[in-house]
Parts: sequence; C-alpha cells; structure tokens
Amino acid sequence: MGRATLANTPERYGWIAIVLHWAMAALLAGLVGLGIFMVQLPDVGYDREKITLILVHKALGMIALAGAGARMVWRLTNALPRFVDGLPPWQQVSALFVHLWLYALMFAVPVTGWLMSSAGGYPTPIFSWLDAPDLIARNEHLFRTLIDVHRWLAYAFTGVVVLHAAAALRHHLVLKDHTLRKMLPGG
Ligand code: HEM
Ligand code: HEM
Repeated sequence: MGRATLANTPERYGWIAIVLHWAMAALLAGLVGLGIFMVQLPDVGYDREKITLILVHKALGMIALAGAGARMVWRLTNALPRFVDGLPPWQQVSALFVHLWLYALMFAVPVTGWLMSSAGGYPTPIFSWLDAPDLIARNEHLFRTLIDVHRWLAYAFTGVVVLHAAAALRHHLVLKDHTLRKMLPGG
C-alpha cells in the first residue's frame, strides 16, 4: 500500500485527508466532552467558569464547522480510496452511509449551535476579536428548542462515531485488513 503522499491515491488516504480526519476527530471528541462538562456547572458563581467555557466551546465549534467545510471540499476534489478487496456490498453501502451521516452531523451540530446563540441573542465568537454574524433574529422559544436540537444531534453524532470507530477497529483487530492503515500515514 505504501506510505502516504500528500493527496489521496486509489489505494490510501493522503496526508491532507489523514491530518484533517484525526485533528477533527480529536477536536470533535473534545467538544462533546467540554459540552457535557460545561452544561452541568452551576449558572451563578463569582468565577465565570461556565461562561468562559461556553465561549471556548463556541469558538472551537466554529473552527470545527470550518474544518468540516475544508474536509468536504477536499473529499469532493480528490480521489476516494477504494475499499479493501472483498468487502461485501452491504458493508460498502453501510460505510458510505455512515460517512454521509458523519458529514451531515459535522455540519448540523455546529450550525444548530450557531442558530441557538443567534436566537438567544448571545454572541458567537470565533476569535476574541471576531464575532460570527447572527443567522436569525432573537426568539426565546426557538432558542429553547434549538438547545434541545443541538444536544440531541450531538448525542446522535457521538453514537454514529462510536459505530464508525468500532467498525474500523473490527477491521484492524479481527479481520486484520488494511482499512485502518489506509487512514494512517505509515506503510
Ligand atoms: C461540532 C461542533 C460541536 C459539538 C460536537 C457540540 C457539542 C455539544 C454538546 C455535547 C453539548 C452539551 C449538551 C448537553 O448535554 O446538554 C453542547 C452544548 C452547547 N453548545 Fe455545542 N457543540 C458544537 C458546536 C457548537 C457551536 C458552534 C456553538 C455556538 C456557536 C455551540 C453552542 C453550545 C451551547 C451554547 C451549549 C450549551 C447549551 C445549554 O445551555 O444547555 N456548540 N454542545
Ligand atoms: C469524530 C470522529 C470521527 C469522524 C467525524 C470521522 C469521519 C470519517 C469520515 C467522514 C470518513 C470518510 C473519509 C473522509 O471523507 O474523510 C472516515 C474514514 C475513516 N475513519 Fe473516521 N471519523 C472519526 C473517528 C474515527 C476513529 C476514532 C477511527 C478509528 C478507530 C476512524 C477510522 C476511520 C477509517 C479507518 C476510515 C477509512 C475508511 C475507508 O475509507 O475504508 N475514524 N472517517
């Protein structure tokens, strides 16, 4: 299969796809952990830990949204490596279906976060000196609904990622094929 080149080849993912895949996996796992941690902190207090963490969560979430865009552009303009030989058709369809859901949720989760902040009348910082524009007007009822939508989409996303990672690990550890190695830089 050989070592990774910059771009994908029909046999394996290249450096750009690999770095995007694993950097995003770490960032998204961190965002889920941070999200769950920060919402259970008390609302009031002399230290503003909760507010600070929510602002960090929003900024990193907006970076994740940009990352999802970069990934999609790269995926659409680059070769898509073949599945390993002999993969049953139903598994090929399932893998593509899961990848499609991962993309949909990589956009839907941060976009609902951004919509939620806009509806709540709260800022969405990207950097300390740059706020994202509001997507919709202030609306208290929609704000409450979007909190739930954002939460449940994030949980669904976590479930799909676990399924995806379990499938990858099964290929590597049980079937001992090249599936996981295609997404790693080594030979
Ligand atoms: C892929 C990116 C993101 C992921 C994976 C993610 C995940 C999560 C999770 C797991 C929670 C905790 C839900 C709960 O247990 O109640 C949460 C809460 C929250 N997220 Fe995100 N989020 C992302 C992006 C964003 C963005 C871009 C924004 C805003 C611009 C945002 C704003 C919020 C806010 C304000 C909360 C707290 C809601 C509350 O008060 O209950 N998130 N997020
Ligand atoms: C937030 C976490 C993750 C997301 C969003 C994600 C998303 C994706 C997506 C969309 C693809 C299709 C290729 C592409 O368009 O880049 C892919 C491929 C792949 N992922 Fe993940 N992934 C995550 C975590 C993981 C983990 C934890 C593992 C391993 C344990 C893993 C292993 C793989 C492998 C082996 C492939 C190549 C599959 C093939 O083309 O045959 N991923 N991933």
